[in-house]
Amino acid sequence: MERIARVRETSGARALLALKCFATWSVFDFMREYMDGTTSSSLNEVRLGHERFGKETHAYSVAYADYEIDEVVSHADKIIFNSISQLERYADNAAGIVRGLRLNPQVSSSSFDLADPARPFSRLGELDLSRVEAVMDRISGFMIHNNCENSDFSLFDRMLGQIEERFAPLLRKAEWVSLGGGIHFTGDDYPIDQFAERLKRFAGEYGVQVYLEPGEASITKSTTLEVTVVDTLFNGKNLAIVDSSIEAHMLDLLIYRESAKVAPNRGPHRYMICGKSCLAGDIFGEFDFEHELKVGDRISFQDAAGYTMVKKNWFNGVRMPSIAIRELDGSIRTVREFDYADYEQSLS
Ligand SMILES: Cc1ncc(COP(=O)(O)O)c(C=O)c1O
Repeated sequence: MERIARVRETSGARALLALKCFATWSVFDFMREYMDGTTSSSLNEVRLGHERFGKETHAYSVAYADYEIDEVVSHADKIIFNSISQLERYADNAAGIVRGLRLNPQVSSSSFDLADPARPFSRLGELDLSRVEAVMDRISGFMIHNNCENSDFSLFDRMLGQIEERFAPLLRKAEWVSLGGGIHFTGDDYPIDQFAERLKRFAGEYGVQVYLEPGEASITKSTTLEVTVVDTLFNGKNLAIVDSSIEAHMLDLLIYRESAKVAPNRGPHRYMICGKSCLAGDIFGEFDFEHELKVGDRISFQDAAGYTMVKKNWFNGVRMPSIAIRELDGSIRTVREFDYADYEQSLS
């Protein structure tokens, strides 16, 4: 949070929490001191941002429907349409708030097709400068989200240069530009001052208010998923089954075929840590431990906030992890426990 605040101060950019990544509102009172507001991807998120976080509330969605647009507008300071056709359909509904459009520069830092906004035939934003110029009377700014887990400042810098080359005539007519999320500027080795200087230069060149939409960068390493060993087996490898499931509780890792993280991950005893759902590949990863694991041992999966808590689900009816907050003084406060009624009510 302090790194985000520093970038805001030195660059003049505003930072909005991307709720799609992290929406645990119990910590919003704390985060609000360091950030300018929230951005969203649906009616439910924009409402949550407005009601639970406050400050500046941006609305964006790949597509709004007639039945939700007025409620979306009632919660937002700014609405960013994904396409010119959505802008044209809903410009009057949104006449009372600031309107913008998503641009797609067709260049991104993603190597993963699934998460690449610049993938061929992408539906994420408008590409054509002349078509956008024709609707400039109805919008005052743009959102461009083309970074993805980008921890390389020079790549960010280069891609921003490409955006400037392609869209300069539009940028000069804009009052604000959101550069989206996906920039890992809170990482330990990130050249944060160079980054802030680049944002400031961009803002000065086009006379725009810059926004950032950090999701992952807001909560990296803030959270652990605490699990307990409930069985051990040996099937050619040492296996430990825990009272959790990667499919239910860390789904993003499964989708992107990544391993969970355990620290320090050191010692002579290697185990494959498995979830308790029926999915054969419900595996958190293989890790090294100082001692043999036994039933009742606790394992902490690191860095478990981003795209994790927002995606957890009731697959197999596996018990949902409670949510607890470690306060700055070290004390732990449980803010949510889930029981059978929650499971039942998630169904019908
Ligand atoms: C429009 C937009 N803004 C912000 C974000 C947040 O990205 P991240 O969590 O990688 O910072 C995303 C992620 O997909 C996004 O699509």
